[in-house]
Amino acid sequence: KRVPPKLPDGTPIVPPQDLASRPRRNRRSATVREAFRETILTPANFIYPIFVHDGEDDIPIDSMPGQSRLGWRTGMIDKVREARATGVNQVVVFPKTPDHLKSATAEECFNPNGLAQRSISLLKDTFPDLEVYTDVALDPYNTMGHDGMVRSDGVILNDETVYYLCKQAVSQARAGADVISPSDMMDGRVGAIREALDAEGFTNVAIMSYTAKYNSAYYGPFRDALASAPRPGNEEWRIPKDKAEYQMDPANFRECLREAALDEAEGADIMMVKPAGAYLDIIRALKDSTTLPISAYQVSGEYSMLKAAAAAGYLNERDAVLESLISIKRAGADLTLTYFAVDAAKWLQEA
Ligand code: PBG
Repeated sequence: KRVPPKLPDGTPIVPPQDLASRPRRNRRSATVREAFRETILTPANFIYPIFVHDGEDDIPIDSMPGQSRLGWRTGMIDKVREARATGVNQVVVFPKTPDHLKSATAEECFNPNGLAQRSISLLKDTFPDLEVYTDVALDPYNTMGHDGMVRSDGVILNDETVYYLCKQAVSQARAGADVISPSDMMDGRVGAIREALDAEGFTNVAIMSYTAKYNSAYYGPFRDALASAPRPGNEEWRIPKDKAEYQMDPANFRECLREAALDEAEGADIMMVKPAGAYLDIIRALKDSTTLPISAYQVSGEYSMLKAAAAAGYLNERDAVLESLISIKRAGADLTLTYFAVDAAKWLQEA
């Protein structure tokens, strides 16, 4: 027998409002809420970014608690095995290049025996069905810390850079990469890379373009992790202190549509927005402007902010992280690159 619920003492007696529509009816129970839930997270949509270095031990990254530069032979394989056990089967690999291999023109980026190429091969040999994404840009290999080559007057060279990006992409495809991801924001690089890959027979290797990549302060911890921040210049060689010459102005919206139209025409398979959380309007705009899949990168600074707030006890980590990932997906992201991929996948398993 159901007991009638009690009202708190002092509840005013009022006539019911005459409402045809009461939205709360559709939120009235956990079952109903689950039935009407529009956005459901799944680890199948996550891409886990990993940092690797050319040594054995894993080295924690101070500005990214919980993330390490993984030893490419052991730590990397263990971490990816753990990720796969939670349902995360896509990774993007970022190599930390030792200083002595960096140069002004960054030839190391297409060394067939480079750290990135070795790591990609080892991953594909160990886990043939793992989807391996690569980063294409010169910054981890460039003494000046820019995604492109820097002329003495501070101009970032576009077409010369694209020439090397193509060599880098082809070397990664030779190593076994599934998806090439240019993050450099040079003009024309998607088309040029597509042509270079096809010319070498890699018609099945996909391109995920960083289509709308903003000149963001949120990349700080990543640049610590790879020691890849722009270096100070001097009288003789001016080095721009930020990447505003090629990454997009955070104040701009319409430019993202221009970049998207170009990348689609140049043959991109997936278009990315980066960062994610502060750029949800951009994710939605790209989603509505194309039929290509959209990815979004919850970048290092977004990760570290959430970690710091959780460590201070200001936020519940699990709830805040899952909400951030739901919001990115709701905005239109089909794929999400996130350093929380493995933690989030575990939380989803527990749910
Ligand atoms: C390099 C690159 C960057 C990131 C991904 N690829 C840094 C930058 O553009 O300076 C940032 C990722 C992150 O912050 O998590 N081209």
